Amino acid sequence: MTKILLSLHVLAAIVAVGPVTVAASMFPPAVRRAALPRGTGTGTETPDAGGGPPEADTVRLLHRICRVYAGLGIAVPLLGLATAQAMGVLGDTWLLVSIALTAAAAGILFLLVLPRQEELLERVTAGGSVERSGTARLAMVTGLFNLLWATVTILMIVRPGSTTGA
Ligand code: HEM
Repeated sequence: MTKILLSLHVLAAIVAVGPVTVAASMFPPAVRRAALPRGTGTGTETPDAGGGPPEADTVRLLHRICRVYAGLGIAVPLLGLATAQAMGVLGDTWLLVSIALTAAAAGILFLLVLPRQEELLERVTAGGSVERSGTARLAMVTGLFNLLWATVTILMIVRPGSTTGA
């Protein structure tokens, strides 16, 4: 049972957190491309289905990937907790630190990254401009999210101080 739970936990981390990392990292440069001044301003550009410049489609898709896979990603800590319970390691320091870092990463994703992406998507869809500092701040918090979950992954593998397994 423990092996099944651990396999599902690792699978969920790969399938859900992987796409969020890639899509969230691509989001700020995609916004910058979509919010470029419209060149000649002839007004002949074909707007995309959801409104805004054609590049807004990419921004919308990246945001959708982040939102959907972030939702699926909730399975990672849930399966992690079930695995820890089955292994009897819930009180281990490395695990408690991992839980705190996972909570911080989730907080950054749901409270900072996703809402800010939504704001920028709305602005791009409306054909508005976006200052560089706006995407730079998002890139910074996205980087922090990536750093946190990468740290958790290393902690999961190294398990400092653990006497179980290799
Ligand atoms: C509440 C948060 C989490 C809990 C309670 C948790 C719990 C666990 C437990 C108990 C193990 C088994 C360790 C062992 O074999 O002794 C494990 C392994 C693992 N976890 Fe988590 N985890 C959490 C979050 C995460 C996150 C956010 C990621 C990555 C995105 C992650 C990636 C992994 C990986 C890759 C392994 C396999 C390590 C190995 O067997 O070498 N975990 N986790």
